[in-house]
Amino acid sequence: MTHPNDHGIEALGLAFPALALPCHELAALRGVDPAKYDKGLGVGHIALCAPDETVVTLAATAASRAIARWGGDVSRIGLIAVGSETAQDMSRPLSAFVAEKLGLVGTYRSYETKHACYGGTVALRQAVEWRASGAARGRVALVIAADEALYAEGDPGEPTQGAGAVAMIVGEPSVASVGLHSYAWAEPAFDFWRPVGEAYPRVDGPKSLDCYKRAAAECFGQLVSQRSAREVLFGYSRTCFHVPFPKMVQKASLHVCETLGLSAEEGQAFWAERVEPTMGWNRETGNSYTAALWVAVAHSLRGMSPGTRLAAFSYGSGYGSELLELSAGPLASAGAWSEDVETDLRKRQVLRAGEYAQLRHGRSHV
Ligand code: CAA
Repeated sequence: MTHPNDHGIEALGLAFPALALPCHELAALRGVDPAKYDKGLGVGHIALCAPDETVVTLAATAASRAIARWGGDVSRIGLIAVGSETAQDMSRPLSAFVAEKLGLVGTYRSYETKHACYGGTVALRQAVEWRASGAARGRVALVIAADEALYAEGDPGEPTQGAGAVAMIVGEPSVASVGLHSYAWAEPAFDFWRPVGEAYPRVDGPKSLDCYKRAAAECFGQLVSQRSAREVLFGYSRTCFHVPFPKMVQKASLHVCETLGLSAEEGQAFWAERVEPTMGWNRETGNSYTAALWVAVAHSLRGMSPGTRLAAFSYGSGYGSELLELSAGPLASAGAWSEDVETDLRKRQVLRAGEYAQLRHGRSHV
C-alpha cells in the first residue's frame, strides 16, 4: 500500500564533475582484466572532480539548478540540509558552505546530515516530515545529497569511485510525492568507515556487501509484511537502490526476492525489468555515495506518467537503511532535470589512464 502524501519533490537539479575515467583505462593501469570491472562489477565510467571542483561546488551547482527550475522566491526556503560523507569541516556544516556560495541569508534552518550513503535520504525524510507536520508553514526545503567517492590508489574499491550531487526542493509533490510511511532498519557495524583525519575510507568489502543485503531484506520484508511479495514488488514500476556498483544492486535485489519467497525466474524478471533500468546514469558516473540512490530515482522518474509508483532503498554503512515509496507527479514526464546530466556528461573531459595517475598524484591529500 502506498501511503499518499501531499508533500514531496517540487524541483530537481543534478550536477556531475568535469572529468571522467573509463573503467577499462583504470583496468589497464592496474593490470586487471577489464571484464572484472565491466561484467564483474557492472561499472562504466568514474566521475572525478577537476582540481578546482569540490563537493561544495557540485552541491551548489545542483542547488542553483533546482532553484532555477523551481522558480520560487528564495525567501520561501525555510530549511537547507546537506547529506554528505565528504565533510569539509568537523564543525561548520556543508549547508553553510553551499548557502555562502549561493548568497542565501535568511530565516532558514541550516545543517548537515551524516550517515554514510544514507545521509541524503535522512535529510529528505526530515524535510518531508517537517512539511507534513505543519511546522514549515508553507515554506519549502532545499535538500542536497552530494559526495565525491575516492579510495586509495590500487584499493579494491577504486573502480567503484564516483562523484555527483542531487538537489531537491521539497514542497508540493510536482515531480514526485514521497510517502509518509517508510521502512527503516539499522544495526551498528563497522563495514565501511573513515576515521577523523584520514583521507580514505576503511572498508571490509565482504562485510559491507552482507550488511547491505541484510538491510535490504529487512526493509522489503517490512514493506511486504503479510501481503503477496510478488504483487507488492511488481506493483512498483521501478525499484531504485543505493548504487555502490551495479553488481551489488543485482545481488541485493535477487537476495530480497529469494528471501521473500519469489522463484529464481521471478527474481530475474524483477531485476531485469524493474531494477536494472534505473542505473543508466549511475553506470556513467560511479558511486556518488549519498547522491547515488537519488541519481537512480531522478533517472527513473523521467517520462513517468502521474501516479506511477516507485520504491527507493537507501543504505548507509555503519549501518542504517530505509525504504521509501514515491509516486510520480505532473512534472515527472517532462523530466526537465535530464538536461543537467546531458550537459555535464557531454562537456566532461574523458581521461586516459596516465592522466588519471597524474591527477591522483597532484591531489594534496593523496
Ligand atoms: N571477468 C568477469 N568477472 C570477473 C572477473 C573477470 N575477469 N574477475 C572477477 N570477476 C568478478 C568476480 O567473480 C566478482 O563477481 P561475483 O561477486 O558475482 O562473484 C566480481 O567480479 C568482483 O570480484 P571480487 O569480489 O574479487 O572483487 P574485489 O575483491 O576486488 O572487491 C568490492 C570488490 C568488495 C566490492 C570492492 O569494490 C569494495 O571493497 N568496494 C567498496 C565497498 C562497497 O562498495 N561495498 C558495497 C556495500 S557498502 C555501501 O553501500 C556503502 C558504499 O557505498 C561504499
